[in-house]
Amino acid sequence: MANGKEGTDQAATRWKDEEYFYPSKEFIAQANLNNKSVFDRFALDNFPNYYAEFADLITWFKPWEKVFDSSEAPTWKWFTGGTLNVSYNCIDRHLAKNANKTAIHYVPEPMNEKTEHITYQELYVRVNEFAALLRNTAKLKRGDRVTIHMPMVAELPITMLACARLGVIHNVVFGGFSSSACADRIIDSKSRVLITMDAYYRAGKLIDHKSVDDESCQLAADGGQKVDTLLIWQRYPGKNSSPAPMVAGRDIVVQDELKKYYGARIDPEHMDSHDPLFLMYTSGTTGKPKGCQHGTGGYLSYVTAMAKYILDIQPEDVYWCTADIGWITGHSFIVYGPLALGASSIMYEGVPTYPDAGRNWRIAQDLGITIFYTAPTAIRALRKVGPDEPKKYNLKFKLIGTVGEPIEPEVWRWYYKEVGKDQAAVVDTYWQTETGGFVFCTVPGLAPMKPGSAGPGVPGIHPVLFDDEGNTLPPGSNKPAHFCIKNPWPGCFQTIWGNRDRFVNSYFGTYNRDRNSKDWRDWPYITGDTAIEAGDGYVRILGRADDVINVSGHRLGSKEIEAAALTVPEIAEAAVVAIPHEIKGAEPELYVSLKPGVVATPDIEKKVADAIVFQIGKIAKCGRIWVVPDMPKTRSGKIMRRVLLAVSTKADVGNIMTLANPEIVDAIQKMVNK
Ligand code: PRX
Repeated sequence: MANGKEGTDQAATRWKDEEYFYPSKEFIAQANLNNKSVFDRFALDNFPNYYAEFADLITWFKPWEKVFDSSEAPTWKWFTGGTLNVSYNCIDRHLAKNANKTAIHYVPEPMNEKTEHITYQELYVRVNEFAALLRNTAKLKRGDRVTIHMPMVAELPITMLACARLGVIHNVVFGGFSSSACADRIIDSKSRVLITMDAYYRAGKLIDHKSVDDESCQLAADGGQKVDTLLIWQRYPGKNSSPAPMVAGRDIVVQDELKKYYGARIDPEHMDSHDPLFLMYTSGTTGKPKGCQHGTGGYLSYVTAMAKYILDIQPEDVYWCTADIGWITGHSFIVYGPLALGASSIMYEGVPTYPDAGRNWRIAQDLGITIFYTAPTAIRALRKVGPDEPKKYNLKFKLIGTVGEPIEPEVWRWYYKEVGKDQAAVVDTYWQTETGGFVFCTVPGLAPMKPGSAGPGVPGIHPVLFDDEGNTLPPGSNKPAHFCIKNPWPGCFQTIWGNRDRFVNSYFGTYNRDRNSKDWRDWPYITGDTAIEAGDGYVRILGRADDVINVSGHRLGSKEIEAAALTVPEIAEAAVVAIPHEIKGAEPELYVSLKPGVVATPDIEKKVADAIVFQIGKIAKCGRIWVVPDMPKTRSGKIMRRVLLAVSTKADVGNIMTLANPEIVDAIQKMVNK
């Protein structure tokens, strides 16, 4: 496809179709889903009623009346008329039989700190007390938004569940995002309360976090959104681990304040199925991230079903998803899906290779983990630092999963052989912030695995692929194509917060012919990825068709990085390219040109690098920053990123004679190849 990305994450185009690997008989025998009739029930002809099966997995205060309502197409409503509460589903309903079961095993990074085993009863107590604090001290009520900027600590899901209990819409910002990124999200979501933690561990260092959020509050105020309450969890209760002073009238130390609410119980709010549960900001094609709004009944039904049928979580399993809760994977598959099922879920504070390559596997061994779910980036890193490390531990995974990026077949095979010991079922789960839960993946007890392919649609998801001209391709065409989904599903986000037009245009615009149609058939969902559908219906994801790049499984907008570079006064133009990276999958490289009259000095590069860390965070750091005399441009003035990518990857730049300034390419090449 002509998106200028060939040679980057599109490397998957060149992978050959692999052989099948079959799940073991033992796995199939115990699987939650091992009867093929599910695909008949979930045939498109039975849409939307088949999703009632998913809704039956959760507890409703008031039963829903209608599975699906398309009257506000393409904002679909699921299980209308029903009321429920997510915190009730994730906690209260388990108390009768499983009060003493561990809900969350929290593993701090320092080796000398004890793992905390939080039972469902303990979770119930802590969520209720914190909900009382949110309601009475922070004055939060149903429908309000609250921004949460916290690291991977047990207090994070407690905070989210307390919000859900009150019907407060949470907006969790990845802990590694900068103050500026956090402030943007506070402003857009109009949050007057920010919840943070004073400090956390990362690679052996106690990192000051409160200072970051002092700055977030300041920047939000500058942008017109005052934070009147900053709630600060202490990493070590009773001790302040940040040098930042408390701001009188605004700052509240949570553990001190909680003393007022010991023993408090808060009735869970009865939410309508369609009420929003949370916002999750993600990158798109513009410089500004968009707030994906997820609902309550549809979302919870969907992630619970996916945790049950694809991750195959069963009551006796111990389950570890290594994602950060600051991303959708953590929301859906550390917190909501597993806890709705009453599972035991692991949270680990730190870096998987700290203090050594075996840390990850020791945690898995010591806690008896049976299901392990991580990203290809982590697998590549673990394989690189310790290819034989898993052998040293008594690992007994029944299922291992991947998410977030295409996984190279050889990396897949290492994962299957060394981590899964040729026994575990592997699920390559393809999905997005917007989809809420998995959309393409093999059902592990029903279908063989194919390295490098996510698999066919999960039950109920029906793909459709379009060529560049908008024609549908026949199933199994084996051609790279725009990857779309024919039908709505309950996990799909509801809208972009505050920008419904952008929601409709970005996700449904291209293939919809009638904006007024209330028929779901007129609204195929656009994933934004290109993919190849093989003859067996398995889908191999090639990568993004838009300006989104995937770095270590984290989604970054090229435009966001470019916008950050442009905040440096000397910079005239900026262009990001994503180059292949052994561990991260892809890494951004940045080209910048200077305003007329500005002389290139050695500190420009640093200024740009600092601006990116300030505006977004360290995750957006560019591998190289090139200060070039000018950008290669078409005659209409468009920057030719394709040419820059070829220069960076030392590939053939192709025909450049149609450019307005072909001579610049040679000059840039000399600079890069020096
Ligand atoms: O390009 C696809 C890639 O990650 C994008 C979604 O990123 P995000 O919203 O941050 O969610 C990541 C975790 C759900 C997709 O558009 N992606 C996700 N899963 C896979 C994948 N690419 C290939 N294989 C996957 N399994």
